[in-house]
Amino acid sequence: MVDIILGLQWGDEGKGKIVDFFAKDYDMVARFQGGPNAGHTLYVNDKKVVLHQIPSGVFHPGIINLIGNGVVLDPVTLKKECDTVASFGINLRNNLFISRRTHLILPTHRALDKAAELSKGNQKIGSTLKGIGPTYMDKTGRNGLRVGDLLDKNFTTQYIKLRLKHQRLLDSYNFHEDISAWEEEFFEAVEFLKELNIVNGEYFINEQLKAGKRILAEGAQGSMLDIDFGTFPYVTSSNTISAGVCNGLGVAPQFIRDVIGVTKAYCTRVGSGPFPTELENEKGEELRKTGNEFGATTGRPRRCGWMDLVALHFACMINGVTKIVMTKADVLDAFPELEICTDYEVDGRLTREVPFQMDRSKPVPVFRRFAGWNQPTSQVKSFTDLPETMKEYVKFINEYLGVEIRYISNGPGREQLITVN
Ligand code: GDP
Ligand code: IMO
Ligand code: MG
Repeated sequence: MVDIILGLQWGDEGKGKIVDFFAKDYDMVARFQGGPNAGHTLYVNDKKVVLHQIPSGVFHPGIINLIGNGVVLDPVTLKKECDTVASFGINLRNNLFISRRTHLILPTHRALDKAAELSKGNQKIGSTLKGIGPTYMDKTGRNGLRVGDLLDKNFTTQYIKLRLKHQRLLDSYNFHEDISAWEEEFFEAVEFLKELNIVNGEYFINEQLKAGKRILAEGAQGSMLDIDFGTFPYVTSSNTISAGVCNGLGVAPQFIRDVIGVTKAYCTRVGSGPFPTELENEKGEELRKTGNEFGATTGRPRRCGWMDLVALHFACMINGVTKIVMTKADVLDAFPELEICTDYEVDGRLTREVPFQMDRSKPVPVFRRFAGWNQPTSQVKSFTDLPETMKEYVKFINEYLGVEIRYISNGPGREQLITVN
């Protein structure tokens, strides 16, 4: 059986913390898409750790962590992450496994990402510049190199061939940065990676399923950044939604049980692209400050706004969400009044559908106001003790979505999670 935890907004919903919390109930945690563009924050012994590619179950002894074929993997970032994780006394030789079919991010992919963004001028995506787009392009373009290729004696020849191709593209962008230092790091990290557990991920995971093991699939990014259903072209290059689990791990749909969607009690976005409920004023500033909304991967300030139920409803539909976790409820503690977007106005008409081209149709959000709770909630341990006004906020969301918020997160700590009853 496979349960999925994924983001319902534009990323950074708090997936890492939630996966870390639930990991103890599973035998394996598996990443199925994305790469080092992700930044998942956890607190281990009160120490902050940001994971980019290693699944967030890694700090639980006895749990297997798998980097699936749907991920794009940067050996350099992986080596650094492994060093961090090892400093907590975790032995990755025992609990980290990597699929042979996982595509590799090469130094020239990172250069191409940078060159492509520079060429876009004010239409840039706001990419994390980790090489994600170019690596997935080489995957679908049938050029990419995979982890399994590292073990082939012809790897260097294959690498040079692809590098030459990339070089021609970089020349066409007039991009001439010296990447020799990146390459040196890359080959050093490759030697490290070759020593890790490289497996046929699809057989590995199916054997676990056959043995009755419980698997948790950990999403990266968010549903509104999905390559098919997000705010294209301002998206990432993978399927971030529940469907991505099947092709990103090699598991059949009938094994999937719960789809646990994570949303903040408000909304954020990092990078460019439409964001109807964005608050470009002092309220947005307050959300950013109180919520410490700065990117875990790039440190960029996150754009902040009110909760958007039109987008959230769409995300629940596309993913088949069965349970919702609402994070960062405590960030709203001091707001006297809250707003939730219930409809979009597009060309003078109200709609509850996410338009085809949000950046062109420019939906104007219609808000419903709610009284704030005006009291600290981060120390609350049970649902009964939460303010009535928060319960009303939750009830309204549940009724609108037709899916229930089952957990409320009221702080970054592992224990700050309240079961709704
Ligand atoms: P992810 O990418 O979805 O894993 O999320 P990030 O780690 O990028 O961003 C979430 C941020 O919010 C991190 O700094 C978390 O420590 C923090 N966080 C998670 N849940 C809560 C919460 O309930 N309250 C507060 N105040 N912070 C939270
Ligand atoms: P986690 O897993 C938030 C955004 C980037 C950019 C767009 C494309 O931590 O939630 P890319 O580097 O993928 O080409 O960038 O997607 N983005 C994220 N935003 N959280 C993330 O991951 C993100 N990963 C990518 O800011 O707008
Ligand atoms: Mg993040």
